[in-house]
Amino acid sequence: MSVTAAQISDSSVLKAIGDRRSIRYFDPDKKVEDWKVQAILQAGRLASCQGNINATEAIVVQKESCDLWDEIEECVSGFNVQIINQCSHLIFWLTNLNAWYGRANDGLSSLALVGALTKYHGWNYEFTMTQTMPRLMSFPTERTEILLRFESGQAVGNAVLAGTSLGLGNILLAFGRKPGGVEKAFGLAPNLKFTWAHAIGYPLEDPKAGGQRPRIKFEKLFHDGAYGMPLYPDPAVDDALREKGMLQEQAPLPGRMKELDDLAAKFSRDPGIVSWPAKEVERLIADEDWDFGPAIKARAKEVVAEGGLPDYPEEMRETFEKLMAEHGIDTAKYLS
Ligand SMILES: Cc1cc2nc3c(=O)[nH]c(=O)nc-3n(C[C@H](O)[C@H](O)[C@H](O)COP(=O)(O)O)c2cc1C
Repeated sequence: MSVTAAQISDSSVLKAIGDRRSIRYFDPDKKVEDWKVQAILQAGRLASCQGNINATEAIVVQKESCDLWDEIEECVSGFNVQIINQCSHLIFWLTNLNAWYGRANDGLSSLALVGALTKYHGWNYEFTMTQTMPRLMSFPTERTEILLRFESGQAVGNAVLAGTSLGLGNILLAFGRKPGGVEKAFGLAPNLKFTWAHAIGYPLEDPKAGGQRPRIKFEKLFHDGAYGMPLYPDPAVDDALREKGMLQEQAPLPGRMKELDDLAAKFSRDPGIVSWPAKEVERLIADEDWDFGPAIKARAKEVVAEGGLPDYPEEMRETFEKLMAEHGIDTAKYLS
C-alpha cells in the first residue's frame, strides 16, 4: 500500500528527538508499511555527507523472506536475539569506503553544479584537482573509515528520527557475537563496512518506554569557550523545550516495572530487571555528574530496600582498576 502526503502525520524534529527511545519490545505480528521503510531510508540518504560522496548504504531484511536469517542470527549479540526476531525489519547500515576514493571528484562536481561550492569560499577547480583530491584520495583506509563511519552515524541518526516521527519503534543493535560475520553473510567486499543494524517495528511496550532515559548533566557535557568551563542550560529554554515535547518526563514512569514483567510473561521469558549491588546503586545515584530526577532516585531507594542484590565481584576489581588506569581515569571515583 502506498501513501499520500495527507496521510503522513506531522511531527516537529524537536518532538521526534523527545519521543525517541531505544525500543526493545516489538509486536511480532505487525509489519511496518513499505512506505515508512522508504521514508526512513530517504532520511538516511538526505543526511549531510562529506563532499556529497554518499558513502552510506543499507540492506533491508525481513526475517520471513531472508535466506540468510540463521547466519545473521548467529552474529547478533545475545541480548539482541529476541529483538531481531520480533521486529518488523532490520536495516543493515553500511559504509562504502570506495565512495571516498571513487566518488569524491563527482561529488564535488555535483556540488559545484548546484551552487553549493563557490569561488566566494575559495573553491578553485585546478587547486581541487591538483591538491585537494590527491590529498583526500591518498588517505589510508583506516582514516577514511573513521571519517565515513561518523558520516554513516549522521545518516542513521536521521533515519531513526524519521522512524520515530512515523510512530515506529527504533533501536540500533550490535552484532558483536561474530565480528565480521555480517559482512561474510552478505558476501560484502572489504570496502563495505558494517557497524550497527537498525531494527524497526511497532512497539509492544508503551512508546514512551517508561520515560526519557537519564543523561549526564548538560553542563558536564558542554563547555563554554574552554574545556572544563561549564556551559549551563537556561531553565526558561528547557521549559520551552519541555512544552514542545523535546524534554520529557524522566524514566522510570509509574508502572514501568510491571509492564516489563507483563511483557516477559507474554513471551515466556524470565521476569525482572538486572540488579547492581546496593553500594554501586547508591554511589551512582549520588554522582553529581548525572542528571537524575526524583523518579530514578526513588527507584534506586526501592531497589536497595528490596534487597537481594548481588555482591560486587571483588575478583574483577584489579582488572577494572588496570583498565581505567590505562586511560588515566580516576579509579577512586568508580572503585571506592
Ligand atoms: C550505536 C548504538 C548501538 C547500540 N547498540 C545496542 C544494542 O546492541 N542493544 C541494545 O539493547 N541497545 C543498544 N543501543 C541502545 C542504547 O543502549 C540506548 O541508546 C540507551 O539505552 C539509551 O536509551 P535511549 O536510546 O532510549 O535514549 C545502542 C545505541 C547506539 C547509539
